[in-house]
Amino acid sequence: MRTQVGIIGAGPAGLLLSRLLQLRGIDTVVLENRSRAYVEARIRAGILEQHTVTTLIDAGVGDRLQREGMPHDGVHLQYPGTRHHLDFAQLCGRNVWLYGQSEVVKDLIAAQLDDGPPLLFDVSDVSPEDVDGDAPRIRFTDAEGRAQVLECDVVVGADGFHGVSRPVVTAGTSGRTWERTYPYAWLGILADVAPSSDELVYAWHPDGFALLSMRSPTVSRLYLQVDPTEKIEDWSDDRIWDGLSTRFALDGWELQTGPVTEKSILPMRSFVSAPMRRGRLFLAGDAAHIVPPTGAKGLNLAVADVTLLATALTRLVQEQRTDLVDSYSDRALARVWRCTHFSWWMTSMLHRSGDDFDAELQLSQLRRVCSSEAAARELAENYTGLPVDA
Ligand code: FAD
Ligand code: PHB
Repeated sequence: MRTQVGIIGAGPAGLLLSRLLQLRGIDTVVLENRSRAYVEARIRAGILEQHTVTTLIDAGVGDRLQREGMPHDGVHLQYPGTRHHLDFAQLCGRNVWLYGQSEVVKDLIAAQLDDGPPLLFDVSDVSPEDVDGDAPRIRFTDAEGRAQVLECDVVVGADGFHGVSRPVVTAGTSGRTWERTYPYAWLGILADVAPSSDELVYAWHPDGFALLSMRSPTVSRLYLQVDPTEKIEDWSDDRIWDGLSTRFALDGWELQTGPVTEKSILPMRSFVSAPMRRGRLFLAGDAAHIVPPTGAKGLNLAVADVTLLATALTRLVQEQRTDLVDSYSDRALARVWRCTHFSWWMTSMLHRSGDDFDAELQLSQLRRVCSSEAAARELAENYTGLPVDA
């Protein structure tokens, strides 16, 4: 088998990159080690920045997003006694959209299987090789158990945090990594109940952080801060709803409850690996960096990476010009660090940890964001997404 760009991983980064390259006349093959059903059912992020929405629409995969996605012009920030609305449209002229990552992935897979390049599920033993030369390849075992070799001009590792690509980059470069694990986790649920708020509520509470989000007019997505050692079996639905009701409590407002259809505990971590390239192997998305979900940045960063990479690879493959691939890692990492800072800042402001001194600092910061237009605008600009200069 031969292709121009071999892509490892059919998450948002790999699938969107394949789509963007297809539209520019470049051949790709996407290799995914899970099944289609597994990839489509994975529940993850929900908030799309304006740049992400525009990119999906321009790539011809935004029809359902425009029909079913929910534009949100702001969020609510809450601390005991106060729920403050931040109006993004007014603060910075941009908004965000609520549309589940699983829906983005379903739309991209449907488009690719319809008229797009090959997308192979259930492959195994994936291994990028000879990435330092001009003719890298990917060895893998296909779904029928046959050993295969995919010859490429370029390999892209879009295989997430636990993928095989990043170790190949770090082994061959004098790069480094940075990591922060947080002393808390999120317990996330999906529930069959209409969202109790029109827009997201990020709540600080002495018991810990809580977030009210949604997936549709009839499905709520909610999170509460728990200790990372907690076991999901110890959290009955009643215990979860009690915790959420306490943390979101506000006079004259009530949290609506309903049947819980999914629940899990997610660890929180910041991680950055540099450089995002070794020779002809490029990293994109979670393969190179992870942010805690409080700033809603993970999926959007993956989209920003592949926006840069699609332009850079087009120039390399079609014009043999290396300028944009040579600067890809530095340009992508500048944005990665901005989002890493914003996600860390939102996380640190909203999660209960440390002592009462820390709590007073958090409350002071929250009051500042809720009373100063300059402070609110800084949050709004970062949350809705800074421009991607591709
Ligand atoms: P991924 O979505 O991880 O895709 C990588 C793909 O590569 C996967 O399909 C994987 O199966 C495949 N793969 C892995 N190894 C191999 C291999 N060896 N060979 C072939 N294929 C391979 N972000 C938010 O903003 N808000 C959230 O609420 C949120 N919740 C999250 C919850 C969880 C449990 C996780 C893990 C992440 C969450 N994120 C969230 C982050 C966000 O989902 C990611 O940033 C986003 O998925 C990144 O996309 P990606 O394509 O880079 O990686
Ligand atoms: C979600 O809807 O899953 C979601 C929304 C905002 C976040 C994180 C997750 O910051």
